[in-house]
Amino acid sequence: GKVRAPTHIISTISDDRGEEPCYAGVPMSTIVEKGMGVGDVISLLWFKRSLPRYCTQFIEICIMLCADHGPCVSGAHNTIVTARAGKDLVSSLVSGLLTIGPRFGGAVDDAARYFKDAYDRKLSPYEFVESMKKKGIRVPGIGHRIKRGDNRDKRVELLQLFARTHFPSTKYMEYAVEVETYTLSKANNLVMNVDGAIGTLFLDLLAGSGMFTKQEIDEIVNIGYLNGLFVLARSIGLIGHTFDQKRLKQPLYRHPWEDVLYTK
Ligand code: ACO
Ligand code: LMR
Repeated sequence: GKVRAPTHIISTISDDRGEEPCYAGVPMSTIVEKGMGVGDVISLLWFKRSLPRYCTQFIEICIMLCADHGPCVSGAHNTIVTARAGKDLVSSLVSGLLTIGPRFGGAVDDAARYFKDAYDRKLSPYEFVESMKKKGIRVPGIGHRIKRGDNRDKRVELLQLFARTHFPSTKYMEYAVEVETYTLSKANNLVMNVDGAIGTLFLDLLAGSGMFTKQEIDEIVNIGYLNGLFVLARSIGLIGHTFDQKRLKQPLYRHPWEDVLYTK
């Protein structure tokens, strides 16, 4: 009989060998003919299945709302400085992307992990927040540099509104709202941020859609898929900032001496 030669690579998400490429078994022509969007493509390539419309719409809203947040945030700042140093698009983009992490934009997975664990263990908001404090860990998904209890993040409100209208359950996000009520009683900047909203609402999407087993949800949360949403979204803005600086022919950036405290 035939002997299969061992391969060095295993791949399960896409296939370009046939007449047309397929994403998770779905041919390109079907994607176009059915009028699918980027949310469907993310569902196929990341989750290897077609998700219901409200899920793909939620993914698209996350991408749109996180595409940019002005020139002053860490990622855009790095991209602008890099573009002004005369570097190319990819260098400017990745220099911005490299700032995404536990403090900026990359707290989505940890928010999902910690809030899921606390909810599943039925911790009260007080027990959850105070146990994190004892461990010296800031609650991921809580806190913002400029948003406050009396100046909420509109993106969070829009995501919450969409989910409360379309999701079968928003239990993880509602738990995060209870946690936020407690953290706001401690300090006015400890609001639920966009990472916290996406992290907890994605848990609700995964658990409520009936499309994922418990093991699959644990795998998605453990591997950490969800920061990918912010990385993908913010790439749109960072590419825009690169073009903007090039279009404006901005010179090499040098930080002003007056804005540095030179001290011993
Ligand atoms: N949990 C508990 N306490 C907190 C938190 C939090 N998430 N954030 C701030 N605090 C408290 C702490 O007591 C902190 O003191 P510490 O430095 O001794 O820990 C105090 O508030 C003051 O903190 P600042 O450093 O002044 O807060 P800052 O405005 O710099 O922080 C930040 C903003 C980085 C977002 C912070 O709240 C944080 O680390 N949050 C968790 C990570 C996170 O969710 N990041 C995503 C932000 S949204 C985005 O980037 C798109
Ligand atoms: C962002 O989306 O970049 C922000 O929430 C961070 C910020 O400081 O505004």
